[in-house]
Amino acid sequence: MSLLIVLVLFLHVVRALSTHNVIGYLGETVTLPSRADPSWNLSKIEWSILTNTTWIATHRGGATNIDRFHRYKGRLSLNITSGDLTIRNLMKEDDMEYTVNLLGPKREVKVIRLIVNKHLQKPTINALFKSPAKGGGCWMGLQCSSQDEGVDFSWKIEPPTEALFNTRHAERNPGEIFMFLKNPEIDVEFTCTTNRTTENVSSAFIQKFDDTRCKEHNCRNRYALCFAIGLAIGLAIAVVLYICRENISPPCK
Ligand SMILES: *[C@@H]1O[C@H](CO)[C@@H](O)[C@H](O)[C@H]1NC(C)=O
Ligand SMILES: *[C@@H]1O[C@H](CO)[C@@H](O)[C@H](O)[C@H]1NC(C)=O
Ligand SMILES: *[C@@H]1O[C@H](CO)[C@@H](O)[C@H](O)[C@H]1NC(C)=O
Ligand SMILES: *[C@@H]1O[C@H](CO)[C@@H](O)[C@H](O)[C@H]1NC(C)=O
Repeated sequence: MSLLIVLVLFLHVVRALSTHNVIGYLGETVTLPSRADPSWNLSKIEWSILTNTTWIATHRGGATNIDRFHRYKGRLSLNITSGDLTIRNLMKEDDMEYTVNLLGPKREVKVIRLIVNKHLQKPTINALFKSPAKGGGCWMGLQCSSQDEGVDFSWKIEPPTEALFNTRHAERNPGEIFMFLKNPEIDVEFTCTTNRTTENVSSAFIQKFDDTRCKEHNCRNRYALCFAIGLAIGLAIAVVLYICRENISPPCK
């Protein structure tokens, strides 16, 4: 039993050592390098997938066949000089290991692991709160979120001197940032970037100098108005619900 495990691990390591990772993106084109010695004259190139060695593109005895497997029909090209295989219009199902058998002066087998990713989506920035401080300045909290999994978040504040203090809760909520703006009288731009090992993408949020939520004097009235409207809407909903529940009004049926 344990011998089997050791053997499996060993094979895994051997395989991993000779595997070359290539990253492609959905709908795009990728070239899998055969990594053949450029000085070789390749008399045979055989690209295959799956454990049952399903040929997808071959070059043997001067004849090239790139229409061997239905799923790749019309999406492949084979460079018979380099042995490189190009796959167009990438699909999620193309994400797997590809094996190439090369015959030149010697025989060689290479494994290429194709990883098919989706491009990162731009992150979304929401203001969690903005609140004027007594004696000037503004407290703010922003939340950056991404539809992509496993991304890291980073923030940039421009001009950098304007945020007196900022704190992030990386473990709890990776995209969140809280800060105190010393001088809400100028525009401050916050850029949130999400990144993965292979790419990154950003969105910006501009805190305008004329944002009344960051100004002390205008705030009271504004909050009072919002509260009054909120209360009125809440009451209206409550009344409608009450009427519906009591079956007083036929239009609700
Ligand atoms: C490769 O093949 C071409 C013609 O098929 C030949 O002229 C050339 O000498 C060969 N090169 C090597 C390195 O074998
Ligand atoms: C290998 O298996 C796949 C499905 O698992 C099948 O479509 C394919 O025809 C098989 N290839 C060979 C050469 O048997
Ligand atoms: C095939 O590969 C060779 C060597 O890398 C390169 O010079 C050539 O341009 C390639 N041909 C095509 C059609 O891409
Ligand atoms: C994003 O990628 C670009 C180029 O790929 C790089 O210059 C930049 O430093 C990256 N930014 C972050 C925040 O990782």
